Amino acid sequence: MTQTRRGCPVSHTDYTGHAPLHQHYAMLDADREQDRFLFNDTTDRGFFMLQRYDDVQAGFQQHETWTTAVRSALRPETGEPLLPQDLNGQPHVKLRRILNQFFAPAAVRRMEPMAQQRCIELIEEMKDQGECDFVQEFAIRYPTDMFLALLGLPVSDGEQFLEWSDDYFGALLAGDPGRAEAAKASIMKYFDEAVTERRANPRDPKEDMVSRLVEARIDEEELTHDEILTICLTLMLAGLDTTRSALGYIYTHLAQNPADRQALVDDPTLIPKAVEEFLRLYPLVFQAGREVQEPQDFNGLQVEKGDVVWLGIAQANRDPRKFENPDEFDVLRPNVNQHIAFGGGPHRCLGMHLARLELKVVLEEWHRRIPEYRIKPGTELTERGVQLSMPTLPLEWEV
Ligand code: HEM
Repeated sequence: MTQTRRGCPVSHTDYTGHAPLHQHYAMLDADREQDRFLFNDTTDRGFFMLQRYDDVQAGFQQHETWTTAVRSALRPETGEPLLPQDLNGQPHVKLRRILNQFFAPAAVRRMEPMAQQRCIELIEEMKDQGECDFVQEFAIRYPTDMFLALLGLPVSDGEQFLEWSDDYFGALLAGDPGRAEAAKASIMKYFDEAVTERRANPRDPKEDMVSRLVEARIDEEELTHDEILTICLTLMLAGLDTTRSALGYIYTHLAQNPADRQALVDDPTLIPKAVEEFLRLYPLVFQAGREVQEPQDFNGLQVEKGDVVWLGIAQANRDPRKFENPDEFDVLRPNVNQHIAFGGGPHRCLGMHLARLELKVVLEEWHRRIPEYRIKPGTELTERGVQLSMPTLPLEWEV
């Protein structure tokens, strides 16, 4: 007999391992089609899975009673404090109001010339090589430089900063807390010096994010020095790995589907829509977690205080009830903008307009210079679970 928990079939699917590329999507689809709600028992606390588009959307709207006390259903105990993620209710709204001004569409548009220029420089540096590991050499370097520019820090620090952040991510994923702490200490020292410098020499807070954080008041209270450093670290953690991963999946698709690539080369005005369709088809943050604060009947699912809920972002984006032929890449899909790769509700991705800009600029500038490329023959493509990412993508092209 099938096991159940509060009426939900129990799933044992482990979403944390390494796997052949795209295998996680197959596992997610299979779970979604098994039943509307499941209970997954692969973590100590277990979690109730919301998997269909309408349920996941509705789940993001339960923010008054489902909080980010758990941010990831797969890692309910992750200790790293993050801001604004860890806040809920009014304190969250107030901090988002301060940060939003730097991530709003108009502010991001002002970054476009700089985003283009940096992207062109990086592509030109490697174009004559005829090959690169796209993920390790390009897809992480570009968002790192953009992140420094966003914070008003020198892009020339990019190489050094990348070394620390790579070391930090690598150690976190390898479960090596000692090395992670050491790498984090270098990063925090760098942020600490930048914030201290802005305290001494404030710039225009309308233009400079760190100066704005230094002068900001929430209910007449300043943000503490540690809170400002936490915000900087959060932006790094939230913005670099995600953009690198998105680029990895997108370039794999384009290398393997020459007709889709040629369509973008022939008509670059399709690129903004293609970016949305890629985000729908290849969501990397494939779930968000929440912790239930009071008992509730959610569309027939009985949840109790302390339960962990899984909001299945990728399952919603690939739900055939919402998106026709969900496994197909279709730039002209009429509801392409309704994907939820950036989540929903008040915690919806702060950096989504920046991410969109970065992806658009890379697709435009790369294909202008390197319109044809392929994956190096013999490469075995794999992905990491928890939050999808490809360790490597070796590309080659004619020079
Ligand atoms: C393709 C790239 C990206 C994807 C797919 C992505 C996805 C997401 C998702 C799904 C969430 C919601 C998590 C939840 O509800 O618990 C989120 C939140 C967030 N993202 Fe992104 N993100 C991307 C890029 C970025 C960038 C570039 C930045 C900033 C530099 C950023 C900063 C944040 C922050 C600060 C939050 C927390 C917002 C809050 O709790 O109020 N993200 N992101």
